[in-house]
Amino acid sequence: MTILITGAGGQLGRALARAAPGAIALDRAACDVTDADEVAAALEAHAPTAVINAAAYTAVDRAEGDRLAAFAVNATGAGVVARACAARGVRSIYVSTDHVFDGALGRPAREDDPVAPANVYGASKAAGERAVRAAGGAVVRTSWLFAPDGWGFVPAIVRAALAGEQIRAVDDRVGRPTAVDDLAAALLALVAAPPDVYHVAGAGETTWHGLACAVVAALGVDVPVEPIASAAWPSAAPRPRSSRLSTARVEALGIAVPSWRPALARAVAAIARRG
Ligand SMILES: NC(=O)c1ccc[n+]([C@@H]2O[C@H](COP(=O)([O-])OP(=O)(O)OC[C@H]3O[C@@H](n4cnc5c(N)ncnc54)[C@H](OP(=O)(O)O)[C@@H]3O)[C@@H](O)[C@H]2O)c1
Repeated sequence: MTILITGAGGQLGRALARAAPGAIALDRAACDVTDADEVAAALEAHAPTAVINAAAYTAVDRAEGDRLAAFAVNATGAGVVARACAARGVRSIYVSTDHVFDGALGRPAREDDPVAPANVYGASKAAGERAVRAAGGAVVRTSWLFAPDGWGFVPAIVRAALAGEQIRAVDDRVGRPTAVDDLAAALLALVAAPPDVYHVAGAGETTWHGLACAVVAALGVDVPVEPIASAAWPSAAPRPRSSRLSTARVEALGIAVPSWRPALARAVAAIARRG
């Protein structure tokens, strides 16, 4: 089976390339997913069995004022890839997000719950999901990604803790952190599953404050983490009230959703080594 990865320059794309060394890994320069001719040329040149589309506009706050750019990649680009795959009988998986939900359900969101995007980024991903499903592709939603070589909350906490800075983290938003390498393994397993909507997230719920405490504990430093309300951490884009995704559907397929804690310890060590 030949897997082709789009968006291979991102943190998930790099994890997919690590997990599937024989895969064709195309970053944005090699294949812009918004360019139907480039996508078609890549499929013709490499004749993959399956495509995992990890390309995305992921700047959640910037998307509020940059709607067209977010929709171009997350909605239009998603549809371009899924339709090009469908036309050639190639399986496709589109990676999506907990931000397609506003978190108001009062329980973990299931795959068939109606979407209610929390912000422009979430709306762009929900539009991408619709385009992908209309073309017969699969959608895999995930949450709170972290990577040993990535960006975002976990490296920010590592750097702040090592610099001895005051750390504050929101303690009224719950979610499931997910290691990119665990997500990559699940995505590769889902290539052979019926094309459907799936949730993949690390086992174990926590808050951003709980995650920050776990980072500090993994570093072995004595730095306090102050819990704060989300109202005290304003952001351009509203965040989901809860990011809890139910993973029962993939678990029923026998796909593992490991605890995020061991991978977090490895990621924190790698980030701290890099400085
Ligand atoms: N990060 C999270 O916490 C999180 C949580 C839930 C879901 N997700 C989803 O998980 C997936 C992977 O996220 P990630 O964290 O790996 O994101 P990332 O690190 O930002 O990677 C996204 C990659 O897509 C590339 N890209 C942007 N526009 C493109 C285009 N037109 N054509 C081809 N490539 C393009 C980016 O290239 P440039 O760097 O050149 O822009 C980047 O390399 C995304 O679908 C995201 O929505 C992420």
